[in-house]
Amino acid sequence: MENISCPIFYFLLFLIALLLYHHISSKKPKWKNLQKGKLPPGSMGWPYIGDTLQLYSQDPNVFFANKQKRYGDILKTHILGYPCVMLASPEAARFVLVTYAHLFKPTYPKSKERLIGPSALFFHQGNYHSRLRKLVQSSLSPEALRKLVTDIEGLAISSLESWAKNNQIINTFRVMKKFSFEVGILAIFGQLDAKYKEELNKNYSTVEKGYNSFPTNLPGTAYYKAMVARRKLNQILSEIICQRKEKKTVEKDLLCHLLNFKDEKGQTLTEDQIADNVIGVLFAAQDTTASALTWILKYLHDDQKLLEAVKAEQRTIYESNEEGKNLLTWAQTRNMSLTYRVILESLRMSSIISFTYREAVVDVEYDGYLIPKGWKVMPLFRNIHHNPKFFADPRTFDASRFMVAPKLNTYMPFGNGAHACPGNELAKLEMLILIHHLVTKFRWEVVASEGTVQYNPFPIPHHGLPSRLWKEQEA
Ligand code: HEM
Repeated sequence: MENISCPIFYFLLFLIALLLYHHISSKKPKWKNLQKGKLPPGSMGWPYIGDTLQLYSQDPNVFFANKQKRYGDILKTHILGYPCVMLASPEAARFVLVTYAHLFKPTYPKSKERLIGPSALFFHQGNYHSRLRKLVQSSLSPEALRKLVTDIEGLAISSLESWAKNNQIINTFRVMKKFSFEVGILAIFGQLDAKYKEELNKNYSTVEKGYNSFPTNLPGTAYYKAMVARRKLNQILSEIICQRKEKKTVEKDLLCHLLNFKDEKGQTLTEDQIADNVIGVLFAAQDTTASALTWILKYLHDDQKLLEAVKAEQRTIYESNEEGKNLLTWAQTRNMSLTYRVILESLRMSSIISFTYREAVVDVEYDGYLIPKGWKVMPLFRNIHHNPKFFADPRTFDASRFMVAPKLNTYMPFGNGAHACPGNELAKLEMLILIHHLVTKFRWEVVASEGTVQYNPFPIPHHGLPSRLWKEQEA
């Protein structure tokens, strides 16, 4: 007790309190120090954690919808340690993604960037991004896709036949992932040895698990294993590149475009840049397309009348191909108007990419509000797709709404502007081809459908939509 009454003790206590105060006030969120401009309405939630708990303790889409209902189309919040502005109007989304895209840079957590590979195009802006983007776009252009129809058809038929074997129950999302992975490999490498495919698949799956886990890089953790698998992927890709160079074949796939690239100074891409972009494209292609296909199967299953109409459209093509004896042509895939509308409506309803992230590189004023430099900006695609102002009765699946083109900038399942999805035509092509063979030769039933949504990380029907598939004549 004597010690406690000592003046030195009180001095030390005062010093500690001063240091603590300084520490806390220097960590005060930057938005509290802003002087100029009016911030959008909204709440920043709890100190430091913001609205993070609120977001993760409920369906994120309900969280976004409630925020919009309460504060309007432009609002502020605080998520995962960052102040954010959410934008739920087509004009605001266009402002950020198209008109003033140079004021907003792509932003991803460093842990995720390290796993995919920091040179992947979607982490970049400016010259490097547009060069890489041109390469990806040309490998996915209509001329390139036209040549893939037969191979994609082969993959669709063999996938469906294997799912229909032994009266088994399949996890629709999981099998669709396998299919979209194979199509992704085809677009990137053309024909690839089964040995490499298997190796890529195995290591890529480990990377994926780490991507969706807490990023602790300690031996034994999913993130650590993913980093090891990511390095292994580089080795496999290096071997494939080496073989490709030896063979000197002239292909038109993405790998070939990446290998042949030279900038105006004659500079080629490094092997790391090539690997990061190959993994990046595979990553962007797989779960998105698999999730969309899973939703399509659910929507068609839930609306037998619509399924019959899609069947009728596809049967006409099937019969003109002599009951499937002839292969599908590119022209036929361009002439599946109802099926195409079903795909568009499925993408609107499910809004797989519900929003995207950017970061303001300077203070920006929008609609009288300040978006401060360093804040995250989130165009909310799903809120726009589910706004009755743009899509009447938005919760109802109605493919016929796409008989008329949606209002400008209201339909963005593939994003908008400089980073909009370069794989959108490939994604739609593989969906059309798979649906063609599914509805003309197979039947399926959904084994368990609870009507709830699971995030994996994209929204999918609960448990990946367990289903059973069988050949039509076996019914
Ligand atoms: C239904 C399937 C798909 C959906 C819904 C989808 C959606 C999207 C969206 C919304 C973006 C923009 C993200 C942003 O602005 O931040 C994007 C970008 C991208 N997507 Fe897709 N995508 C799909 C399939 C594919 C496929 C099949 C590929 C490739 C084969 C692909 C490759 C890419 C790439 C490389 C980017 C980054 C583009 C850039 O940063 O310039 N996607 N995708």
